[in-house]
Amino acid sequence: MTMFLKTYLPCAIAASLLFTALPGVAQSNKPTVDLSARLAESQNNAALASELLLKGRRAAAVCANCHGEGGNSVKPDIPNLAGQNPVYLLEQMRLFSDGKRRFEFMEGMIKAMSPDEKVGVVLFYSAQSVITSPAKNAALVANGKAYYDKVCFRCHANDGHGNNVYARIAGQQNVYLTNTIKNYRNGTGGRTNSLMADNTRHMTDADIDAIVAYVTSMK
Ligand code: HEC
Ligand code: HEC
Repeated sequence: MTMFLKTYLPCAIAASLLFTALPGVAQSNKPTVDLSARLAESQNNAALASELLLKGRRAAAVCANCHGEGGNSVKPDIPNLAGQNPVYLLEQMRLFSDGKRRFEFMEGMIKAMSPDEKVGVVLFYSAQSVITSPAKNAALVANGKAYYDKVCFRCHANDGHGNNVYARIAGQQNVYLTNTIKNYRNGTGGRTNSLMADNTRHMTDADIDAIVAYVTSMK
């Protein structure tokens, strides 16, 4: 947290100021609503979806300080949310608010949102497009692709877009990817996952550099 505060304090302060300025965001509603059911309901009801998306877009003003306008992060160590799969996004928000994915600042922000704001934010970000950065080192990218096509495609799909269960990783920020993959491999950081631990166990740092070069460039 100390490291985090040093790096992000200015935007954290801006974010909390915005938070108190937004009516409805500051009071937390207890999650009596089944979020997955509410998401499914909105996906089958266009009027509800656009109402919640508007709510989500408003609540996302505060997230833009770190995740960027429209969810394309401007900091390489903060994840893009744009184009992310809705079920994955909602699940990560649930993990933060249940304290199962630890990242103090995010936990506080998510806990302060009402159920409809959470679903709305998910609808909003999943509908945005990811801006990918072009590949810089062709040889590294080719090594990364070879590794990806042997291991990662099984869950994150050939194009890196994942699916309802697995995260989209195509076009994700490079430092965030590196840190996240190393944390899964080393069992460090604020989240653990046995599937990702198993699939990163044998990766060298060089494998990770190659994978990250490839994945960031995937459209
Ligand atoms: C002060 C900066 C900051 C703000 C403001 C912020 N976030 Fe985050 N968020 C982060 C960081 C850093 C991470 C990565 C945490 C980690 O490494 O586990 C993250 C991770 C996430 C993730 C997980 C993404 C993934 O790919 O797994 C979601 C979802 C998320 N944030 C949603 C939000 C929402 C919604 C808001 C606004 C209500 C918000 N964040 C505001 C910094 C921020
Ligand atoms: C057997 C399925 C499976 C395979 C194979 C797999 N993953 Fe994953 N991956 C997952 C799951 C499940 C999650 C979500 C874990 C969580 O909630 O922390 C995940 C999450 C991730 C994330 C975090 C996404 C985010 O937005 O925070 C990254 C990055 C990632 N995987 C990269 C990879 C790479 C690179 C490979 C190949 C070396 C790989 N994965 C292979 C299942 C898999």
